[in-house]
Amino acid sequence: MSSGGEAISKQQQMNLSKHTKIYIAGHNGMVGSAIWRKLEAKGYTNLVGMSSKALDLRKQIDVQRFFESEQPEVVIDAAARVGGILANNDYPYQFLMENMQIQNNLIDGAFQAGIEKFIFLGSSCIYPKLAPQPLVEECLLTAALEPTNEWYALAKISGVKACEAIRKQFGLDYVSLMPTNLYGSHDNFDLQTSHVLPAMIRKFHDAKQNGHAAVQLWGTGTPMREFLYVDDMAAAVVFALENNLPEHLYNVGTGSDITIKELAQTIQKVVGHEGPIEWDASKPDGTPRKLMDVSKLSALGWEATISLEEGIQKTYAWFLNNQAQIKEVKL
Ligand SMILES: NC(=O)c1ccc[n+]([C@@H]2O[C@H](COP(=O)([O-])OP(=O)(O)OC[C@H]3O[C@@H](n4cnc5c(N)ncnc54)[C@H](OP(=O)(O)O)[C@@H]3O)[C@@H](O)[C@H]2O)c1
Repeated sequence: MSSGGEAISKQQQMNLSKHTKIYIAGHNGMVGSAIWRKLEAKGYTNLVGMSSKALDLRKQIDVQRFFESEQPEVVIDAAARVGGILANNDYPYQFLMENMQIQNNLIDGAFQAGIEKFIFLGSSCIYPKLAPQPLVEECLLTAALEPTNEWYALAKISGVKACEAIRKQFGLDYVSLMPTNLYGSHDNFDLQTSHVLPAMIRKFHDAKQNGHAAVQLWGTGTPMREFLYVDDMAAAVVFALENNLPEHLYNVGTGSDITIKELAQTIQKVVGHEGPIEWDASKPDGTPRKLMDVSKLSALGWEATISLEEGIQKTYAWFLNNQAQIKEVKL
């Protein structure tokens, strides 16, 4: 990572120090826990996290009370109801409403509490299904969304707009980061609710255990996707924390993509599965291509550093070492 361009000025709006009280919403999740680890490693000593059992972010009054009693100075919002195509398709109301509740309570709660810095995490699915590739931030709201996850996308778009409005109207540093597909340690490996990469790791691992049985995968394998290792994402959040970024919305990714077929072959190699791969073309492929244009953030000095194969190796090693506590998110 380079030191950053001249367009950004370090800690201009608020006096950030290693003792600044930083609340990471969703700190037990894949992304939140990576952000927590990164901040701790960088010497931040005043981190706050609440599990969903201790603080249900869907409950506005509880969130307001939390802000009053804890008085954090910065909020990083990595809390959300997340899931893959199946989960989005089957539970549209939860994906729309719970995500709006969580982010509204956090964004407005932080604003009402006078918090000057807020980092909102969205997703690349906020962009139109058929937007020109690579996806630039400006294509937001220019055409129809991908129908399988439009519920989740709509919620995230409203979060981006809420942060933009606060920034525009009140001049506060509320910024949105839109990650591409993320993967890594603490991912969800449940075959019904997980994203494509951890689901494939699980399938290849199980098939290897099962005498290198055939692995069945959804779709044709031709769609193209981009994947970012979660520690790189955490580094981008820390970059947004430590710098006063000039715009309200930034894509975060590697800037390069591969076909789902190539992804399967890479995972097969890392896992050591030697059986056949069977593609079920009757199942949906989703968006044909989803590559982020990451030039805005890279012009300011942030870039991903972990290659896909290295990230998959780290993720599979974590999976093997944590089999007893592997996360399986049931809806
Ligand atoms: N994973 C990806 O590929 C990806 C890609 C792009 C963007 N993102 C974004 O990154 C963020 C985090 O995703 P993730 O993959 O880390 O998800 P995750 O592992 O499922 O973590 C989500 C966290 O949200 C918390 N949460 C959910 N509902 C809550 C509630 N009602 N009250 C309080 N906390 C609640 C959970 O807390 P508990 O564990 O305590 O229940 C959990 O720790 C999301 O905004 C997501 O949109 C993720």
